[in-house]
Amino acid sequence: MHTLPKAELHLHIEGTLEPELAFALAAKNRVELPYGSVEELRRQYDFEDLSSFLALYYATMAVLRDASDFEALTRAYLERAAAQGLRHVDVFFDPQAHTARGVPLGTVVDGIRAALDAARAEHGLTSTLLLCFLRDRPAAEAVELFDSLGDQLPRIDGIGLDSAEVGHPPALFEEVYARARAAGLHVVAHAGEEAGPEYVREALDVLRVERVDHGIQCLSDPELVDRLVAERVPLTVCPLSNVRLRVVDTLADHPVLDMLERGLLVTVNSDDPAYFGGYVGDVFQDLRDALGLTDEQAVALARNSVDASFAGTERKRAIHAEITAWEGR
Ligand code: HPA
Ligand code: ZN
Repeated sequence: MHTLPKAELHLHIEGTLEPELAFALAAKNRVELPYGSVEELRRQYDFEDLSSFLALYYATMAVLRDASDFEALTRAYLERAAAQGLRHVDVFFDPQAHTARGVPLGTVVDGIRAALDAARAEHGLTSTLLLCFLRDRPAAEAVELFDSLGDQLPRIDGIGLDSAEVGHPPALFEEVYARARAAGLHVVAHAGEEAGPEYVREALDVLRVERVDHGIQCLSDPELVDRLVAERVPLTVCPLSNVRLRVVDTLADHPVLDMLERGLLVTVNSDDPAYFGGYVGDVFQDLRDALGLTDEQAVALARNSVDASFAGTERKRAIHAEITAWEGR
């Protein structure tokens, strides 16, 4: 499964911060982590739900201070994912989680972009960068951030919406999404991870998203499922995340293959791989072990990931050709 060429569409770069790098950066930047060791930090990765994960996620990313930190983080992710077959990635980042700590947006983007550019030059691994707004902060702050992007705007390929979902519905962010669409950016949003199918409908109808991140709660609404199938709306499903955040009991209970067979445009992704137990190739491998994912299903998921990505037409064609070669191996 690691050799199958694939794209990843739901990946928070801050969620790739492994404990070893967190401690190294904490020492370099003289930031105090509230844990004594890598092992103690890793022992915290027993989450009750999305909120309990987010508390640790935001606390640990405080070790990221300068551009070289963001570059090291992004490089480490790209190296691991490339070794697991990754050919293209649409990367999320959470600017408000950094600017709120006094780290300028330009510093964050400089570091991430340097690593993305290096991976393109060195490995031919292509990417886009998607700026996520934190939905549990005021919608006015998202508008303010978007309006202040200035020189950074051309370095951003799209926007997303993440953080604590329940009680923070998509429609609150109508204005900033309208502005982003008018600026020609790609638009996606997390919806239907913990909250119900009405959040998925709002993301489609009010934010007019091109893809839905997670979206698995659509399954409780058969009419919505029919619509997602008919409109070919990509869903960026994250099976290991769903298990770790207790959205689904076990991987063996995960509906991802039923969703695929039902005709949904499903992709599989790692979300926050340092926290949830694996990178994108590991997700495929775990689905094979827990659900009997076949080579045909794996290829369908990989082809969906390419089609639903924000890679250019030529790039998509090239990755599809690599998948075809993998099938005939
Ligand atoms: N859901 C919502 N917000 C997030 C996640 C997630 O899985 N990961 C990082 N921010
Ligand atoms: Zn996510």
